[in-house]
Amino acid sequence: DSEATLRAVLDTLVDGIIVIDEQGLVQLFTPAAARMFGYHADEVLGRNVALLMPSPHREEHDAYIGRYLRTGEPRIIGIGREVQGRRKDGRLFPLHLSVGEFRRHQRRWFVGVTRDLTVRKQTEDRLLMLS
Ligand code: HEM
Repeated sequence: DSEATLRAVLDTLVDGIIVIDEQGLVQLFTPAAARMFGYHADEVLGRNVALLMPSPHREEHDAYIGRYLRTGEPRIIGIGREVQGRRKDGRLFPLHLSVGEFRRHQRRWFVGVTRDLTVRKQTEDRLLMLS
């Protein structure tokens, strides 16, 4: 059935998919996101997405979402940005973040796609050393 197929697709994606609600609480956390951030999905589900980032964004992220909900003015949604993620073990890593938005049950939901840039950065650094 189509639900099982959708689940298989989500489980197979290389980029991480993270869905949050208007409060920033994680509602979906795919296996690739779990590998990237070093958490099991059940450690993250229902917790604030700010857990996955370093300061100062960790403290400010609720306000970022609040500002967007008030003003409707996107800073990352539909634009994307290179940011740092924070793994469970505290290590930081570069990632590309894109965020989309949908409405359901009179609420807004945000879908983040995370791509680990660690290997790409290492390659860039090596190429820079050669030149
Ligand atoms: C806004 C950082 C993950 C959803 C922002 C902003 C920053 C940020 C800096 C505000 C941009 C500005 O005002 O200039 C991060 C970092 C992440 C992360 C470092 C690392 C894990 C996520 C994820 C989602 C998400 C996974 C969604 C599932 C949002 C939303 C906004 C926002 C909805 C407000 C809308 C906007 O500014 O376009 N984030 N974020 N963030 N972020 Fe995150």
